Amino acid sequence: MIAAKATSPFRIDKNFDMPTVPLVLSRIIQVLDDDHSSAQEMEDLILHDPSLSARILKLANSALYSFRSEVKTISHAIPLLGLNLVKSLAIGVSVFESFTKGAKGEAVHINNLWMHSFGVGMLSQELWKKRGPRKEAEFAFLCGLLHDLGKVIFFKKAPMHYSFIFSQERNDKEPDISATEQQYYGVNHASIGSLLAEHWGFPPELCTVIRKHHSTVDPNAPLVAAVSLADTIVRQTSIGRDGDRRANPDMSRLQALLRMGAEEFRQLRLYAESRRKDVDDFFRMMP
Ligand SMILES: [Fe+2]
Ligand SMILES: [Fe+2]
Repeated sequence: MIAAKATSPFRIDKNFDMPTVPLVLSRIIQVLDDDHSSAQEMEDLILHDPSLSARILKLANSALYSFRSEVKTISHAIPLLGLNLVKSLAIGVSVFESFTKGAKGEAVHINNLWMHSFGVGMLSQELWKKRGPRKEAEFAFLCGLLHDLGKVIFFKKAPMHYSFIFSQERNDKEPDISATEQQYYGVNHASIGSLLAEHWGFPPELCTVIRKHHSTVDPNAPLVAAVSLADTIVRQTSIGRDGDRRANPDMSRLQALLRMGAEEFRQLRLYAESRRKDVDDFFRMMP
């Protein structure tokens, strides 16, 4: 029962100091929207961070991207994976690993959230491929990857307390995770995540997705609907965990807004199921 941990470790109010942006992340955000930023620039940035380089090479060599021959260098990985995907992955590593460095008992939960977020990124990209150009689909990946950014802040600020909240099995009579966060921290993960994303200088569309991913469907925000739908399928498919078992948006409204027929929906679920093992294996082999 959540009541067993009734004391609140911190409350987020107007005096709350937003966590500072990790250095690598701030440099990637600067070039995120810059079409002229070169692969060379990105390569230099990645090579400065050995753990980031190792992650990207592992991803490029994982079953998620079955390239024909072994990818040995970052300069080889960038054109194969795509510059935008590499940028997003570098952001993901920075947020989920560097930012939460030192986490011990809660590492398993953060890793589950990382897997969930990666799955939502993949599925959002897959979904958007049919709706926009490649660049937009890659942006959808980033939106899916960071939709639960607020939970990372809670893990950072109150590791043990939030691990407890995150790992609760909730029944229908108990408040869902967003309501529980609101109760203890005075804010839920969608609000604090979007505030942090704004504070760090992420693009406004990404901040909107983070803020609204649990809100009622907005017909003017199809990207939010895409991430919300991907979030739900990934949760139902059990790719990682996001502690949100009770979140259950109106799927038929999301599908209608995205003009998604039953067959495309079925294919998307099959896609998620087909990727689950590869995502599992990739995260298991991470050092
Ligand atoms: Fe969420
Ligand atoms: Fe989620």
